[in-house]
Amino acid sequence: MFNLDATLQTIIAIARDAGHILLHHFDNPTITATKSTDSDIVTIADKEAEELIVAALKQQFPDHHMVGEEGGGTGAPAETAEYFWFVDPIDGTVNYAGGMPFFSTSIALTDKNRQPILGVIYDPWRDEMFSAIQGKGAFLNGQSLKVSKTASLAKALLSSGFPYNKHLQPDNNLAEWAAFLVQVRDLRRLGSAALDLCYVAAARMDGYWEQQLNPWDVLAGILIVREAGGMVTDYEGGANPQQEHKGKYVASNGHLHAAMLEVIQAVRSSRSDFAT
Ligand code: IPD
Ligand code: CA
Ligand code: CA
Repeated sequence: MFNLDATLQTIIAIARDAGHILLHHFDNPTITATKSTDSDIVTIADKEAEELIVAALKQQFPDHHMVGEEGGGTGAPAETAEYFWFVDPIDGTVNYAGGMPFFSTSIALTDKNRQPILGVIYDPWRDEMFSAIQGKGAFLNGQSLKVSKTASLAKALLSSGFPYNKHLQPDNNLAEWAAFLVQVRDLRRLGSAALDLCYVAAARMDGYWEQQLNPWDVLAGILIVREAGGMVTDYEGGANPQQEHKGKYVASNGHLHAAMLEVIQAVRSSRSDFAT
């Protein structure tokens, strides 16, 4: 295994460089394309930041495989690589393109089983660098992170998000949102899954759930939550949500996890029109 502490410093520097690109285009965030639906947009900064990150990773780690949201796979072939990088150049592009300063760059290193080993999530607007190495804790700008102690849903602040195809299917998280809303202190839809996870790690939020997420949205954040003492599972409580290919994630401070799963499962078991 290569030196993870040195690798973390390299990735932090790359994330900062990407952050400069994001801030540079922020006042004029030209939308260049739409993807799955009209809400699923790409800006110049998504492309430029991903190109910078992937080029730097390829140079530093030629034996690894890279998966970027905007560019697909590159580097060493996925079939033979021992290590994988998952890159989301802007997580929160809808916020970014609308001039709302809540977005991040997420970079995760995993083994070939998609187990996260190292994760960096950078919010350039606030200059907040969240990071974790497996087994070594989670940090925000070098300060150790610990999840909240909130133990009841009634006192909990939770966040979530909605898929880009929300208008095309009933299984769009609206039923789960309604069920949580009347049981918790409040809910937020912040618009960046990566930062939602960091905010659980930093005890700014008590929990988070969402479906139809991609590996680049969550792999760094999963490690950051777990290394801050929290839990991340799928909707059934399975500990390898990133391997199930369902894209469903529940993250919490641990104390709230069973209660969150119960709310989600009660909703989903009452709906025959939802996918499993
Ligand atoms: C999106 C954000 C959003 C979440 C969506 C994601 P993107 O990522 O994380 O909060 O609700 O499901 O796709 O498109 O901005 O990289
Ligand atoms: Ca994303
Ligand atoms: Ca993105």
